[in-house]
Amino acid sequence: MKVDFFRHNITSAERKALDKTLRGLFISTGDEVATFETKFANYTAAPYAVGVTSATAGLHLALESLGIGRGDEVITSPMSFIATSNSILHAGATPKFVDVEPDTGNIDVANIEKAITKKTKAIMPVHLYGQLCDMKSISAIAKSAKLRIIEDAAHAVEATRDGIKVGQLSDAAAFSFYATKNMTSGEGGAITVRSKRVRNILRQSRSHGMTKDAASRYQKKFQHYDMKFCGWKYNMSNIQAALLLPQLERVEKNLRLRQKAWDVYLKHLSDVPKIGLPKIVAGSRSALHLFTVWVSPKKRNSILTELESAGIGVAINFRPIHLMSFYRKRFGFRKGDFPVAENIGNKVITLPLYPTLKPGQIKYVCDTLKSLLG
Ligand SMILES: Cc1ncc(COP(=O)(O)O)c(C=O)c1O
Repeated sequence: MKVDFFRHNITSAERKALDKTLRGLFISTGDEVATFETKFANYTAAPYAVGVTSATAGLHLALESLGIGRGDEVITSPMSFIATSNSILHAGATPKFVDVEPDTGNIDVANIEKAITKKTKAIMPVHLYGQLCDMKSISAIAKSAKLRIIEDAAHAVEATRDGIKVGQLSDAAAFSFYATKNMTSGEGGAITVRSKRVRNILRQSRSHGMTKDAASRYQKKFQHYDMKFCGWKYNMSNIQAALLLPQLERVEKNLRLRQKAWDVYLKHLSDVPKIGLPKIVAGSRSALHLFTVWVSPKKRNSILTELESAGIGVAINFRPIHLMSFYRKRFGFRKGDFPVAENIGNKVITLPLYPTLKPGQIKYVCDTLKSLLG
């Protein structure tokens, strides 16, 4: 049997929408992007959304638009994809890692206050695998220390916790529409914000700091543009938005389908002594982006290879950022600096999870894994 790590869920609805866009006049940032922004903001209950080319771009622009840069520190998690802390470096600021909770892998709120210095300007929580961090506590800390919050919500479009939606208690949240995400346009991203002023800055900074975007220059009467500040080229295109709009309609349905697959995994794996599972805390509705298991660190790499040999797609989410060569060299990080994140990084394996995954495929993955564990 072959079980791909991920299969996208692009259907005839997306192909139809894409065809319509391609037959239209304008395929870069235009009407479809505006419609997507309105609908995505509605779905996440955010006042505003801005479409960009990736979550990395979104995190970077969010930092820039909030005035965070050179000389500033941003507290974040080492248990994430390198995009999180790279975005802080792109803004010219310094990432300050705080170790994570052993049961969820999310940033450990109990350690945040100790990491705050005079230079700290923001906290960037990462909602690992789709489960929100403890945003109520993070928001309380940020309020008392006058810090901004920028959520790395790359995994977490559908997430809620303690009655709070993703993006609700922060200045900005960045979402990813990368190829393997819950919604995808191959590459893509969005930022939700609560301030109209910040939304307006983001709209300009995703397009070089120009005062008029191409659609308004060419589709309406020609207007000269000015450049007020030096921005970036991070604007979402109508092609990306056309792919995303029908998926947004199905986002809850797809979550239910992943929940079904998740439950089948739990049925097969919950009581296996040699397998650990990250916890979904009470009051949390995870976006169920990645299904991960924990195995013996000594056997992890060989299990990974054996699973691949058995036709099963796997991944590791994540090897902790601070131990990447660049971060070791630049900041002098060493093994043991963030032991909880390191422990997760050594024992984690990500198994296939997507709406079309069949119970028989999940059983095959679980049976193979159990036989490898002995
Ligand atoms: C936690 C996390 N943050 C940020 C990103 C970056 O997303 P993008 O590829 O859209 O820039 C990813 C991508 O996989 C991610 O997993």
